[in-house]
Amino acid sequence: MTNNFPPNFVWGTATSSTQIEGAGLLDGKGPSIWDAFCQIPGKVFENQNALVACDHYHRLEEDVQLLVDLGVSAYRFSFSWPRLLPNGRIDHINEQGIKFYNRLIDLLIENNIMPWATLYHWDLPLALQLEEDGWVGAKMPELFEDYAGFCFQHFADRIKNWITINEAWVVAILGYGQGVFAPGRISNSEPYLAGHNLLLAHARAVALYRESYAPKYGGKIGITNNCDWREPATDSPADIAAAQRSLEFFLAWFADPVYKGDYPDSMRSALGERLPVFTPEEQALLKGSSDFFGLNHYTTMYASEASDEIIQGPVYGNGGISEDQNVKLSLDPEWPLTDMQWAIVPWGCRKLLKWISERYDYPDIYITENGCAFPDEIEDQEVHDPQRVAFFKAYLDECSEAIAEGVKLRGYFIWSLLDNFEWASGYSKRFGIHYVDFESLQRRPKSSAQWYKSYIQSGHR
Ligand code: GAL
Repeated sequence: MTNNFPPNFVWGTATSSTQIEGAGLLDGKGPSIWDAFCQIPGKVFENQNALVACDHYHRLEEDVQLLVDLGVSAYRFSFSWPRLLPNGRIDHINEQGIKFYNRLIDLLIENNIMPWATLYHWDLPLALQLEEDGWVGAKMPELFEDYAGFCFQHFADRIKNWITINEAWVVAILGYGQGVFAPGRISNSEPYLAGHNLLLAHARAVALYRESYAPKYGGKIGITNNCDWREPATDSPADIAAAQRSLEFFLAWFADPVYKGDYPDSMRSALGERLPVFTPEEQALLKGSSDFFGLNHYTTMYASEASDEIIQGPVYGNGGISEDQNVKLSLDPEWPLTDMQWAIVPWGCRKLLKWISERYDYPDIYITENGCAFPDEIEDQEVHDPQRVAFFKAYLDECSEAIAEGVKLRGYFIWSLLDNFEWASGYSKRFGIHYVDFESLQRRPKSSAQWYKSYIQSGHR
């Protein structure tokens, strides 16, 4: 296995508030849109909810000890907006929420683990959905800036790595387009408006941080976007263009404004008035608004130009709003699948890293999530997950190769530290390198945790 990871490479694992914390309505926390979404029958696997999840809120010390045992240098978690600000606004502060995150941050630092904090990992305070229409509401960028400022004020003395928004694409497409994630809206125009407001919210938070906090505390702030790789299904110019278009609608939708100040032309011409327009001031605020390129990457698909022919076999939506992109997606039947039915294609990761580097002029990249779900089970007190180990080995090999080819990859976070509440899939999909028994809430390292520990120790750190 090649090893091009530099000595200061950041090795971590990631989680998010809703998925692990539990204490869903305890100690002053307000409801989030996910708390409400879970109450609607049929939205989440077996109508499960995140009220207890991994009960991390009550098992903080135990979970930090898992990180210590792993030997990671960083831990990515997210603040729960409704735990800190139960109605979403800074006029009602929940002191118990501040205390909880202070304990977490202090414990991480005591143990030499760098906290990486995400401000928004999808748990919008329900009050803001009802009062402001959530992310399609024009006041959201300002309200997010207030919330971000509140977090900076309380935690920026100790947190040096900030992520504003996790996966705006998921919020926009799954939350406002397909309606399969909270808040469950279905529309072919709202995703673009929600995406627009998410970008403006990000830019305002970054401007505030840079103006009022970075000069005093240093630290970096950026956004994390998700993207699969899209491989042209054939070498025809139409399929090559389709793959490119698909990547633009997926990743450049959010990364072009941040690196270049505006949406890609392909989106502008396909969407017309459905794609909002930035003012020159907003463009200036957005351009250069990320200190690093945060990437969540899970899978790869073939892309070809969509046509009117009747398509045989399994056909996938194009991961966006199909008619807008004119792209048909497919899988190679040879590719192995995870429990999410996502194809395992390690070379797609290398190609995506190179695509990002070339398009955005070689930014520092952090893979803030990469991982896989498998139906793990306990056998004789142990959980063996050789497929997950093989997955990480193969993806990290491609990362190492990408570094050799000039990609400035600076860090890698495994999704996830723990099996957890996998959104609409509830507890049915296990992504953790630690097994969680959702009855007893007992944690148990899987063989992938042992493997990651020795991988980091054996000179990869
Ligand atoms: C990401 C998300 C995580 C996790 C992961 C696995 O899109 O940020 O919260 O659920 O996918 O599906």
